[in-house]
Amino acid sequence: MRITKSIILIAGITVASPLGVAAQQSQPPDQAQAASPSQNDIDGQTMFATSCGFCHQDGGRAAGRGPKLAGTTRSDDFIADRVRKGKPGVMPAYGSVFSESQIMAIVGYIRTLEE
Ligand code: HEC
Repeated sequence: MRITKSIILIAGITVASPLGVAAQQSQPPDQAQAASPSQNDIDGQTMFATSCGFCHQDGGRAAGRGPKLAGTTRSDDFIADRVRKGKPGVMPAYGSVFSESQIMAIVGYIRTLEE
């Protein structure tokens, strides 16, 4: 009797879990859309404001904890690389936070800054 019970239990779990996964998968897209209905994912200005503005003041136009970025003479590669790797001890690395296209959008935003 015991054995039969556990088999039924296991069968129940196996049947239930695919349904559980399906139900979970069908929800997040709706929620994600509600949370970011706009192009925020590749909006360099928004990403900069939320992630970088704390140290690079006034949207990167003024020095704060980090240097002013407006009018930088650094290359796109340098800026993108600094965002990816940060600088130990002073600036966090964002390589695992942003996708490559998001990093490019941030570089693009910095390029729009006027001194
Ligand atoms: C915790 C503070 C902090 C945050 C947050 C931060 N930075 Fe920095 N950043 C710094 C500091 C400090 C430096 C100067 C490091 C050095 O000594 O070279 C720097 C340097 C840089 C440089 C190189 C400037 C140059 O010409 O040498 C770039 C580009 C830059 N940050 C971009 C960003 C971007 C883009 C973000 C957001 C994704 C960001 N930073 C977030 C503190 C920060």
